[in-house]
Formats: sequence, C-alpha cells, structure tokens
Amino acid sequence: MNTQHWIDHFETNTRLNHELQLPDAPCASPDEVRIPLAESLAIFQLGESGGGTRLRRYTRSIAALENLKGYQRAVDLFVAEEQSHAALLARTVTHLRGTLLRKQWTNSIFRWLRDLVNLEFNIQVLLTAELIAEVYFGLLALRCSDPVVQTVSRKLLRDEMGHLSFQRDFLFERLKTLTPAMQRLWRWQFQLIHFGTTCVVAWDHRDCLRTLNITPAGFRARAVQCWRSFQSRLDRRLRDFSAPESPAFPSASGCGRSSDAACENRPDELPEERGCAESLPFIRTGREMHHAWNRAGVSAFPDHSAHV
Ligand SMILES: [Fe+2]
Ligand SMILES: [Fe+2]
Repeated sequence: MNTQHWIDHFETNTRLNHELQLPDAPCASPDEVRIPLAESLAIFQLGESGGGTRLRRYTRSIAALENLKGYQRAVDLFVAEEQSHAALLARTVTHLRGTLLRKQWTNSIFRWLRDLVNLEFNIQVLLTAELIAEVYFGLLALRCSDPVVQTVSRKLLRDEMGHLSFQRDFLFERLKTLTPAMQRLWRWQFQLIHFGTTCVVAWDHRDCLRTLNITPAGFRARAVQCWRSFQSRLDRRLRDFSAPESPAFPSASGCGRSSDAACENRPDELPEERGCAESLPFIRTGREMHHAWNRAGVSAFPDHSAHV
C-alpha cells in the first residue's frame, strides 16, 4: 500500500478544512427546512467527532507488516481529518441555530459495532458510514439552497471520496491474502451490514431527506449503487491480483500483479479524476450531474455513465 501518498494527501488536505472560509450571511431557510437539517447534521457531526483511540490501537497490531508500513501514521492523519469534518459540521449546525449533540442512539450503536471484531471490521464499519455520508453530502451539495451547507457539503463530499480510496487500498491489502471463498463471504457480510445501516440512517434522517425532496427508498437506492460501485472496484483489483499474468492479454484496468505500483494513488490526482467516483449514483439527472461537476470544479469526466 502506498501509505506515503496518503500521508502527503492528508497533510495537505486537512489544512484546507481548517482554513475554509464559510459565507457569513445568516441562515435564511424557513424553519421547516432549517430545523430537520440542523438535527440531521448534528448527528453526522457527532459521528465525525470520535478521537480514533480504538482504531489507532488496532493499527498497532499490523505495524510489523512490510506492505502496511506507514499505515499507522496515515491513520493518525485520517482521524485528524475526520475531526476537522466535525469542526466544520459544528460550525454548520451553529449557523443553522441547531444544538450539538453529546449522545445519540444510532451513533452509540455505530461505535459499539466498530469495536466488535478487529481492525478490518472497524475499517469496514467506518467505510459503511462513509459510503452513506457520500450520498448524504452529495444530496445536500446539490439540493440544499443554504450557501454554508453547500460549501461544507461539497468539501466533505470530496474528502469522503478520498477516504473511500484510502479504505479500499487497505482492504485490498488484507483481502488479497484470503481465499476466493472467504473473499465472497466477506463481501456478503459487508453488503448485509451496509444495507442494514442504510435502512436505519434513511429512517432516522427521514425529515431532513424530505426537505431535500427524496424518500427513504430513494436514499437507500442511491446508497446501494454507491456500495456496488465501491465493491466492484475492489473486486476488480482482487481479480487482477489473483489472475495469472499474461503479457499478451493485459488486464482491462491495467492493474495486474506486475503493475500494482503504477496503480497506487498518485499525489497529483484527485480521487474522482482517477474515476473513483462512488458519489455519482446520487445524481439522478444529466442536468444535476452537469451542475455538480461544475460546482466541484472538476475538469475530468469520470467513468460513471452507468449510474446516470
Ligand atoms: Fe468525515
Ligand atoms: Fe471519512
């Protein structure tokens, strides 16, 4: 795993969150939008505010592995970036005149679940939340008219896309050591836990989703598409890794066993420019997609046509 790329990425990117300027106009949204939005964002804020103590402790268990050298440092920086998200969301909730939370039932279950098994499971549960967050912040960026919410959502969306790549790199390193049958088993339980979590989140945030003109079923459908997109990229890497090398027939993705290094993330590329755009399924129409990419200032057009 190219951990140095992630160390460099987090060191640069997290600083941008601390420096992010938010529009200073007061919230002009009507109460029927403002209140459910503030309540919903306060739950996400609580979820982002963990100190990462157990995750850091887990990473010590793999510190000796050569292919994950530097992972501990990358995780420290990843946790710091999540904390910068918590700070941005706290500013957003305050802007919406909402109340920050100290405890909330879905967050308590989420924390309990993360520490149930081992490092890989902890990362998987985190990843589940990040896949859901990507749909959530994508919808906010597209459909919420408040400029502060839009600015924060857009930044968090881009960051979470990077986190998905980070978690995929780690899971690839771990899953490639399993047999195909065990990989399938892992995939199945991941899908199950992801879907269960999505149902709970869609129900818990239903009032906020209503203000964004999306039903819980619509939210679940987008979340499932995001999961599929993430998993298919991971599957492709695993397949390419286990396939016998054939110079005459190189793998379609170009990520065969011999070219792993070339497929690692390069510091000069944004995740979406590499085509890692799990976030695109939340975009329903071509017009929404056009606006989204314009707002994000992304010049390259990723391989997401299957989702539109
Ligand atoms: Fe985050
Ligand atoms: Fe994240």
